[in-house]
Amino acid sequence: MSLNQLISSIKDCDVSQFLIYGVLLVGVFKVTFLTLNTASLLFDLFILPSVNYKKYGAKQGNWAVVTGASDGIGKEYALQLASKGLNIVLISRTQSKLELIATDIETKYKVETKIIAFDVSTDESTNYDRIAETIKDLPVTILINNVGQSHSIPVPFLETEDKELRDIITINNTATLKITQVVAPIIASTVAKQSKKIRGLILTMGSFGGLLPTPYLATYSGSKAFLQAWSSALAGELKPQGIDVELIISYLVTSAMSKIRRTSLLIPNPKQFVKATLNGVGRRNGAQERYATNTPYWTHAFMHFGIEQAVGVYSKLANTLNYDMHKSIRTRALKKAARLAAEKKD
Ligand SMILES: NC(=O)c1ccc[n+]([C@@H]2O[C@H](COP(=O)([O-])OP(=O)(O)OC[C@H]3O[C@@H](n4cnc5c(N)ncnc54)[C@H](OP(=O)(O)O)[C@@H]3O)[C@@H](O)[C@H]2O)c1
Repeated sequence: MSLNQLISSIKDCDVSQFLIYGVLLVGVFKVTFLTLNTASLLFDLFILPSVNYKKYGAKQGNWAVVTGASDGIGKEYALQLASKGLNIVLISRTQSKLELIATDIETKYKVETKIIAFDVSTDESTNYDRIAETIKDLPVTILINNVGQSHSIPVPFLETEDKELRDIITINNTATLKITQVVAPIIASTVAKQSKKIRGLILTMGSFGGLLPTPYLATYSGSKAFLQAWSSALAGELKPQGIDVELIISYLVTSAMSKIRRTSLLIPNPKQFVKATLNGVGRRNGAQERYATNTPYWTHAFMHFGIEQAVGVYSKLANTLNYDMHKSIRTRALKKAARLAAEKKD
């Protein structure tokens, strides 16, 4: 063997050894990471005890503000926070529904309530002034940004009606941000006045529609993805002021918005969903890879975790499957609408 051949065979050996060690190292790193994440997911979901709301001022005369509080998930947030000993400010569109829930809460849980009815989609400054006026002297510690709107049925973006497009962005984004600008300073001052013995909490409802780019729900999908970045950024800003900020990610829940009435393994009712959310606040559950983000319901958590680990939420495969699913939902919804219209005619 010539000298040159010897040198090149040593070089080859170094490179191949380097590659093998490199691949092994990456493999060990990935397996360790996956094992730790899986352990953390199981720990969050099934082992850690439920959060004690004394930490957020429960049973000490403090208040929670809940938007979209007259139905579905928001109504459950109001009921369950009241059951923990918080007074509740209920906000939504329909005065009569809010009055019924307020009476129910006061009778059942012996806490105080205040109601504010307005249409969030109008984005009028009087809306925010009314919230500010109502809460200015209240020790508010919790804000639940729950109000939201989706498309009435899945629709191609280019065919989305102007009003639907504007309402989704106004309700899910503009109004949510403006309400937070009114309520968060009151929470910060409550926490400061109570000598930081308690913490503040701001939860905002995200969605699998925002987690995964969702064809045929493009505007809703974008609006919820916006909330992800905004809420996580806010979490960093408000942490030094003693306020925990978290985006709550949910797959389907039975409600007027989802138009689903029957529960299943993957689809809880609002009571089950909110119980899981409030018990696990401050944890990530299915959202292991995201700061200040929580996918709290256990089957949703496994779905979120599985998709992230397998293909990723921005993958072509996830997008294609989502496209097929929502296209088929649209076809069925259009058929149903046509059938109902025909029945009405007869
Ligand atoms: N349900 C799901 O499958 C699901 C999944 C993921 C995320 N989410 C999110 O969870 C949140 C709640 O959804 P949900 O299913 O519980 O909805 P829902 O049952 O339809 O309830 C919506 C609530 O918001 C209020 N609201 C709607 N439009 C309003 C407006 N323009 N002005 C004032 N209030 C308004 C409603 O008040 P009125 O009763 O007065 O109309 C009601 O209290 C939303 O942010 C949604 O995006 C839901």
